[in-house]
Amino acid sequence: MPAEIGTKIVTARFGNNEARTLPGYERTGGYGQLRKALAMRPEDITAEVKASNLRGRGGAGFSTGVKWGFVPKDARTVHLVCNADESEPGTCKDRELMFWDPHLLIEGMIISAHALKAVHNYIYIRGEMMREYLVLQKAVAEAYARGYLGQNILGTGIEVQLTVHRGAGAYICGEETALLNSLEGLRGQPRLKPPFPAVKGLFGNPTIVNNVETLMNVPAIIDKGGAWFNALGMGRSGGTRIVCVSGHVNRPGVFELPMGITFTEMIDKVCGGVWKGRKVKAVIPGGVSMPPLDASELDVPCEFDALQTDERIKPVMVRPGQPFDVGGGRQLRTMAGSGGIVVMDDMTDIPRAVWRIMKFFAHESCGQCTPCREGCGWLDIAGNTICALGDAAAWPMLGFLTKFRADFEAKIARKGKAA
Ligand SMILES: Cc1cc2nc3c(=O)[nH]c(=O)nc-3n(C[C@H](O)[C@H](O)[C@H](O)COP(=O)(O)O)c2cc1C
Ligand code: SF4
Repeated sequence: MPAEIGTKIVTARFGNNEARTLPGYERTGGYGQLRKALAMRPEDITAEVKASNLRGRGGAGFSTGVKWGFVPKDARTVHLVCNADESEPGTCKDRELMFWDPHLLIEGMIISAHALKAVHNYIYIRGEMMREYLVLQKAVAEAYARGYLGQNILGTGIEVQLTVHRGAGAYICGEETALLNSLEGLRGQPRLKPPFPAVKGLFGNPTIVNNVETLMNVPAIIDKGGAWFNALGMGRSGGTRIVCVSGHVNRPGVFELPMGITFTEMIDKVCGGVWKGRKVKAVIPGGVSMPPLDASELDVPCEFDALQTDERIKPVMVRPGQPFDVGGGRQLRTMAGSGGIVVMDDMTDIPRAVWRIMKFFAHESCGQCTPCREGCGWLDIAGNTICALGDAAAWPMLGFLTKFRADFEAKIARKGKAA
């Protein structure tokens, strides 16, 4: 049955201070799914995750089970790395998830490591998240002391080790191959793909990189099954979604919501409407890398496929009179991304907001590719760079310029002055 507002999988322990400790977590059923998973064959766990239609919550929405299946069957050393870098402006869910339920992430990682036969595993956490780093360090130590981690977990002969590693605050280190370089002690710059990390990743070994929220869904899939998880969602996207709503709403925050909820319902029912009695002008649907929706497009669900036309966005260069939505209808050409939703009211100075976003990307470019390093200033980048940061800088600019062209023209007519 599709999830309803109030269905909670990964936020069930939010606000429960006791459940953040190991005994408290265990009292609420914690580590029960690990015991169940350890009795399962690794390939059966992967099959269950595949059946669940769990899709990566880090940005691209790729099928988790399919990605796990890319690890070569004869691999001798495999790693699982949790991407806890969370730097996409507008996104702040992983921070809350790790703070409120660190053991759920650890349990999800141990089950996933067992499925992947991965021994040495890592959580790569954004450097600024000191509070969450300390929470995780404590929880990992507790899990080692109780025998959930170590050389012979729960007497099964299975070895799973887990290290928490702090980044140093570079946005690009959230990109999975830059993250792996950083973890190896190299400069945090993306690698050319292929090879993809699942084939050649950390220290040259097959490596699965998954987002915090993605991994925290795994225990529930083991508990109730892939079919149950899939049925909670919509279309090809199983489960619920964590969104972080910020901007001009009365009640911003981090919410676990049904996949099928529309942006209109989210703003009105969950976030108490637009502040000061104003109207929506634009909504960034999944972190600032994503092209915006305008006020006429808010009845679309926040589910991954609903927000885009094809397997990948194919941005079109904007010429005067050429619509961004070349396909017409519901072809929104944006993405659900990382769940960072930014609501802008009808008083927003759109060119100024976009200028701020572009400054961010220009600052965070790692400088490896000329189109991105130089082009973040003049934006003719999409499709020409090693990693998606170049695309991510171009997409919102193209989207805003197409959908809000009049705002830019008016600002030019005012010679840049505020309205
Ligand atoms: C510039 C850039 C920044 C990224 N930042 C993050 C991040 O902070 N956290 C994250 O989970 N994924 C981030 N990603 C996506 C990762 O590369 C990767 O796809 C993801 O961690 C895979 O996990 P998933 O399959 O569970 O989504 C970023 C990608 C790019 C191109
Ligand atoms: S696209 Fe930009 S951030 Fe990505 S590798 Fe090239 S220069 Fe670095």
